[in-house]
Amino acid sequence: MKLATLESTSVLTVPLAECRICASETSLVLDLGAMPPANWLTNDPSDVVHEFPLTLEQCVSCRNLQLSHCVDAGVLYSRYNYATPQSKALSRHYEELLMALRKHGAGDESFVVEVGSNVGLLLEFFKPHFQRVLGIDPAENIARIAQERGIDTIVDFFDASVAARLKQQGGPADVIVARHCMAHNADPYSLLDGVDSLLSANGILVIENAYALNTVLNNEFDQIYHEHMFYFSLSVINRMLRRYDMEAFDVQMSEVHGGSIAVFAARKAARYLKTQAVVDTLASEDDFFGSDAIRRFAASAFEIRDSLTRVVSNAVRSGKTIYAYGATAKGSTLLNFCGLTRESIPYCADSTPIKQGKFMPKSGTQIVSEEWAFQNPPDAFLLTAWNYKEELIEKVRRAGITCDFIMPIPNVLVTRS
Ligand code: TYD
Repeated sequence: MKLATLESTSVLTVPLAECRICASETSLVLDLGAMPPANWLTNDPSDVVHEFPLTLEQCVSCRNLQLSHCVDAGVLYSRYNYATPQSKALSRHYEELLMALRKHGAGDESFVVEVGSNVGLLLEFFKPHFQRVLGIDPAENIARIAQERGIDTIVDFFDASVAARLKQQGGPADVIVARHCMAHNADPYSLLDGVDSLLSANGILVIENAYALNTVLNNEFDQIYHEHMFYFSLSVINRMLRRYDMEAFDVQMSEVHGGSIAVFAARKAARYLKTQAVVDTLASEDDFFGSDAIRRFAASAFEIRDSLTRVVSNAVRSGKTIYAYGATAKGSTLLNFCGLTRESIPYCADSTPIKQGKFMPKSGTQIVSEEWAFQNPPDAFLLTAWNYKEELIEKVRRAGITCDFIMPIPNVLVTRS
């Protein structure tokens, strides 16, 4: 058994109860206990992984939702395993983003930069439509995959100094896309500092994140893990943009990652026409933050835990086998918060080659290929990648398997075959 040797100094512990957006006081929303980072897959089920507090809090002033403790990025990404999956839903989403950019005037001649470009799937899709695309991603193993696919990718954390270098080399960017990465930084202003430096005068910034309202209203407590240091709403993003004389002029909601918001923003001087969607979204956020939805969200996490552990233990007691489906970060939070281990969930099917053969952190559940799982099918799949439920169920049924499915979110629901 290997013991983790991290020093506690590698955790950046922000002074308790301070909003990292506006420096006001915060209050506790939900304490999920100590957990290993969700993507720290291990090579041995008995590897003891370092655990860090996982606690959600909310700013009493700007309503920002954030983690109370942020694990240092160097530590967090030291074992990064996330590779964007090939998915029909994602391909449709890329198409919608392209259409929105076109609608807002991004032409063929545009220079497009993607921050947190991962294995380069979005840029691969964008490449034929724009003059030049460039990715930037801090995870070397992941960026290498993008480079091998022919996507020009720089390995680095995006900030003002990297942005200044890029601008010097390639000129200002007409479009900067930051999908699902601004929440991954304890100081999200550093990303916007870089944007401010690199974006052209009339350029478009697209910030996409899991949308706080969906996360909360859909009981998605499993979206809480150390990489997700913030749970953004439009009002909080707009507040941040104000520091740079920028603002949102359009938003696009999607099903991606359980409900995401893509915020289209620009410098105020660029005078993009603000859409009604922005006005409506801000109004609905006012109602939301004025309700007791966040308190109910916290309570639902415990209800889901009780209900899921009951379903799993009853099934296991009656001799049934359960596998997880989707070695997601969400799955790590779900399994570990519910105290589910390889004793009850021995395997997790996943299509990502670099995850297969590894183990989910702490729970010790082994990740296997979909092919293996389909050849050795369980009595039920726990859909830990519930955000792709239609695709996953279709795959299982196409393989001729008549097992049950357990949906953990928004409430535990067992679909019998
Ligand atoms: P994702 O929802 O992006 O996860 P996270 O919670 O980590 O952000 O990950 C989906 C996972 O599901 C990914 O590891 C790949 C896997 N997957 C399959 O195994 N088969 C599929 O058909 C699809 C669409 C995803």
